[in-house]
Amino acid sequence: MSVNKVMVIGAGQMGSGIAQVFAQAGFEVKLNDIADESLNKGYARIEKLLSRNVEKERMIEQEKENALKQISTTTKLEDANDCDLVIEAVVENMDVKTKVFKQLDDITPKHAILATNTSSLPITDIAAVTERPSQVIGMHFMNPVPVMKLVEIIRAIQTSDETYQLIEETTKKLNKNPVEVNDYPGFVSNRVLMPMINEAIYTVYEGVAEPEAIDEVMKLGMNHPMGPLQLADFIGLDTCLYIMEILHEGFGDSKYRPCPLLRKYVSAGWLGKKSGRGFYVYE
Ligand code: CAA
Ligand code: NAD
Repeated sequence: MSVNKVMVIGAGQMGSGIAQVFAQAGFEVKLNDIADESLNKGYARIEKLLSRNVEKERMIEQEKENALKQISTTTKLEDANDCDLVIEAVVENMDVKTKVFKQLDDITPKHAILATNTSSLPITDIAAVTERPSQVIGMHFMNPVPVMKLVEIIRAIQTSDETYQLIEETTKKLNKNPVEVNDYPGFVSNRVLMPMINEAIYTVYEGVAEPEAIDEVMKLGMNHPMGPLQLADFIGLDTCLYIMEILHEGFGDSKYRPCPLLRKYVSAGWLGKKSGRGFYVYE
């Protein structure tokens, strides 16, 4: 089996990036969202990033047009009925994701692989709600998708070797580097990254330093491209909180306790860059 037609579900910051890299690699992509507005925004983001690539002479106009031609948009999940691979990138919520996977299991052809871009939710539990658990896998892209080289590929306990191999090959066709990991809370990426971000939030909460100072320490002192609070705003504080809750619940260890200040910001709707305010204010 080979992958030709792909559906990406969720046209937010991750889904639009995933659709873009598949289209650039020549795959036929259907971009799906429940909201027309999100679809339009997601498609416009792809057009803008491709145009920027042309401006910067990283691609020619014809390559941009070719990539755009590969993408269609739809609000109908039923349009996944001829897809070989579906990548789900909706909100980080288990109920929403399992509902989508149950529907996909009915809609998609029997051979199709169902992948999730979840940051932390258990792939094993998502696979278990389908009739094809051996064809369910985590395909975890990093933000911003067009720039970051890693795809963390997470094997649920039920994932078959054939499914893993096909997803690894597909990742390489996107010009990305696959890394294989097993399904435990936070996988590798967020198990290591999120406690650092949470600790940075505790240093704000405890008045150790201002956000700018904390970010400066980590950028200049540790050569991180972004400070942890700038990165938290970029990822989305709601997503950061979901991930810390999964780590806390999954390991039952108080070292993963989400900082109360993170909870407060999320309750206030201060979700970072996407809502205009987080640890920083965005115009
Ligand atoms: N979307 C797409 N492309 C972007 C982008 C975005 N949001 N932001 C920047 N870029 C691209 C642009 O093409 C830009 O090049 P041009 O200006 O020439 O077009 C290039 O990246 C470099 O950008 P900048 O010069 O403006 O800024 P920079 O040198 O600081 O790089 C960055 C930007 C690549 C985002 C860098 O700051 C970085 O690597 N930050 C850390 C990102 C990171 O850690 N990501 C992982 C998050 S965790 C995760 O994703 C997993 C999870 O489950 C939460
Ligand atoms: P986002 O809020 O930017 O986008 C989510 C999109 O999903 C929205 O456009 C929303 O309308 C759509 N949506 C919600 N329910 C839907 C449904 N039932 N069907 C179709 N579309 C639906 O979120 P995001 O930051 O792109 O994150 C998406 C997923 O990727 C999450 O699981 C997140 O944990 C994961 N992820 C995020 C990052 C990050 O840095 N933000 C990095 C890696 C992985």
